[in-house]
Amino acid sequence: MNEKPITVLAISGSEHPDGTTADVLEHAAKILADCGALLDVVHLGQLRVSPCGPCGDCNVRPRPCEVDDDVSAIVDRMIAADGIVYATPVHGFGTAALMQAFIERAGVGHLRFTRPLANKVAGAIVTGRRYSHTEVYSHLVKNALLNRMILVGSGMPPIVYSGETGDGEGLDMVRSMLHRMVDMIGVLREHRTLTGRDALTPQTRNERQRVGA
Ligand SMILES: Cc1cc2nc3c(=O)[nH]c(=O)nc-3n(C[C@H](O)[C@H](O)[C@H](O)COP(=O)(O)O)c2cc1C
Repeated sequence: MNEKPITVLAISGSEHPDGTTADVLEHAAKILADCGALLDVVHLGQLRVSPCGPCGDCNVRPRPCEVDDDVSAIVDRMIAADGIVYATPVHGFGTAALMQAFIERAGVGHLRFTRPLANKVAGAIVTGRRYSHTEVYSHLVKNALLNRMILVGSGMPPIVYSGETGDGEGLDMVRSMLHRMVDMIGVLREHRTLTGRDALTPQTRNERQRVGA
């Protein structure tokens, strides 16, 4: 049987189309290609991602955010992918603003209702000059887990130090994480083929609708 190739979607929080994060994702694309998998990249810097506004509607209503920008289309691409990689630079000892805005808008405005990314395989990559990579890694990890994704590790976290000499150890961790993501996606697919059902219970209840309502 001809199965469609594994597709991993990377969300890049860098504003530089040719920066360090883009370089690392090019490296990731080659690693995945060697495994017969595809990498698709969402460059947040090239799309419209408005920051969360003051309305607070999504605290009460059970429908996605109606702000007219590209977040909804990005979420659809995430839902269509087999795996998600959050990739972001460190800015000001924290997550770069583009990624932070996306996490807020996608998470609170779209994903909190039915958790459509549940049971998707997830990974995270952080680039930065020297400081606070692990704090940012923890931030991305918590958001993947919040969305009930299956987080795959790499040994040491895939954090890549930017600089002229390159960071071979960081890139090795990226490779290790991607190999484990492909393996995990393969295991989940195999389970579905053998049993006709998903390995983990689908999570579709709308968290904004009361049980029995
Ligand atoms: C506004 C700004 C703030 C930054 N803050 C940090 C920081 O706190 N820690 C750090 O290690 N690097 C910091 N950097 C460096 C970037 O994280 C690093 O150069 C990264 O690899 C850039 O990725 P990019 O080329 O994909 O944008 C900062 C860069 C910018 C532009």
